[in-house]
Amino acid sequence: MLRTLVKDALNATAPADAIFLQGWVRTRRDAKAFSFIELNDGSYLKGLQVIVDAALPDYAQITKANTGASIEVRGKLVESKGGGQKWEVVAEKFTVLGEADATYPLQKKGHTLEFLREIAHLRPRSNLFGAVFRVRSRLAYAVHQFFQERGFHCVHTPIITASDAEGAGDMFRVTTLDLENPPRGADKQVDHAKDFFGKKTFLTVSGQLEGEIFAHALSNIYTFGPTFRAENSNTSRHAAEFWMIEPEVAFCDLAGNMDLAEAFVKHLIRDAKQHCAADLEFFSKFVDKELLARLDFVLEKPFVRCSYTEAVEILNKSGRTWEHPVSWGANLQAEHERYLTEEHFKCPVTVHDYPRAIKAFYMRQNDGCAPGRETVAAMDLLVPGIGEIIGGSQREERLEQLRAGMMLHHLDEKDYWWYLDLRRYGSVPHAGFGLGFERMLMFVTGVANIRDVIPFARTPGTAEF
Ligand code: 4AD
Ligand code: MG
Repeated sequence: MLRTLVKDALNATAPADAIFLQGWVRTRRDAKAFSFIELNDGSYLKGLQVIVDAALPDYAQITKANTGASIEVRGKLVESKGGGQKWEVVAEKFTVLGEADATYPLQKKGHTLEFLREIAHLRPRSNLFGAVFRVRSRLAYAVHQFFQERGFHCVHTPIITASDAEGAGDMFRVTTLDLENPPRGADKQVDHAKDFFGKKTFLTVSGQLEGEIFAHALSNIYTFGPTFRAENSNTSRHAAEFWMIEPEVAFCDLAGNMDLAEAFVKHLIRDAKQHCAADLEFFSKFVDKELLARLDFVLEKPFVRCSYTEAVEILNKSGRTWEHPVSWGANLQAEHERYLTEEHFKCPVTVHDYPRAIKAFYMRQNDGCAPGRETVAAMDLLVPGIGEIIGGSQREERLEQLRAGMMLHHLDEKDYWWYLDLRRYGSVPHAGFGLGFERMLMFVTGVANIRDVIPFARTPGTAEF
């Protein structure tokens, strides 16, 4: 007999004479003539109530069905007499597959998120993390759906790379050299030519540069993969390993890029509301009371667009004292970004056209800038509660300007010969962005720490599991 998922049993439209369920015991309550078990199989936030009659031969196993144990139940799906649920299962056969001994840490009482992080191998079995990872799964699907329906092609860009896309220098080395005793050249320096790839290699910080190659062939592409940054920032919004979605669009400018980013973020929110309603309701009850209202608000309103120069004026006029001083040319810090989106505009805001010197080499130089006020066609999407969730730009498609940008950022043209070739052979205006998948999940769930929206967090000092 085929297994029925709890989700489908709870959505049943009629009773069933025979049903087969498998899952884990959340709670068990023993009365005189019956035991009540809440069976959860991860398919849905709520479990299904199972009634095991003490007269059943299998009832002998009931004391093994502790919280955390895995069980199998065959029986009837009947309308529930008790309140709170529509359906319940009256067991006819009942089997404990795997007992959970008394040390099982997920007992009914609430646990702190910090404690649950230490048991990341068990936390998906809690209500909160079950909900988070169902939403994560659904949104991964919605990402592909959004782009595929718009004619974008998915490109798997490499994870091991020899180039630094963001020029930030926060990269993890990939090497098979013996670190205790590396090969050295005549100059006593480590001889990287003897390494596995014959040169220095790293884990990628972004699939963008390779994405641009494919946009110059397939027009509209996206990547969705893991990215790695060795920045030593211990914040609630930074992980050393995170997932990024990066569309790259040929024949597109900054305005088109902002439109795409806004439509994308709204699609993901709409999709989560439609397909993860019970989980979102749970978050709005137990994680962030304003979540649902905020998501509705974000869906209804167009995002604000504001140039960097305007943003600096707003911050200077705010009357605030900033930890990091504000002046034209300095990067916006988290405190500034949060002020703009949470207090000034009170909605998502796309800041665009940043000073050239603080942005990556590949961003398109804006024409007609005043001397000393050179900007590039960059954009960052800021949202309340988090700050930046998207970073992107129109790319420099003109060979000479790109070379100048590389010089400004002290990059060696030899390392980017293929990237420069794109500007030699059929160059087109193009643009793209990167959405941090975990930051988006934080926004959709209200969960405040990035460590709690990724299955196994990698942060400075932590790589357990
Ligand atoms: O702004 P970033 O660095 O942009 C890029 O990497 C571009 N190559 C993207 C592109 O144009 N194709 O990163 C993009 C997004 C950020 O807005 C943020 O949401 C997320 O990636 N991000 C991180 N998320 C978690 N932990 C980190 N350490 C992150 N660094 C960036
Ligand atoms: Mg950024």
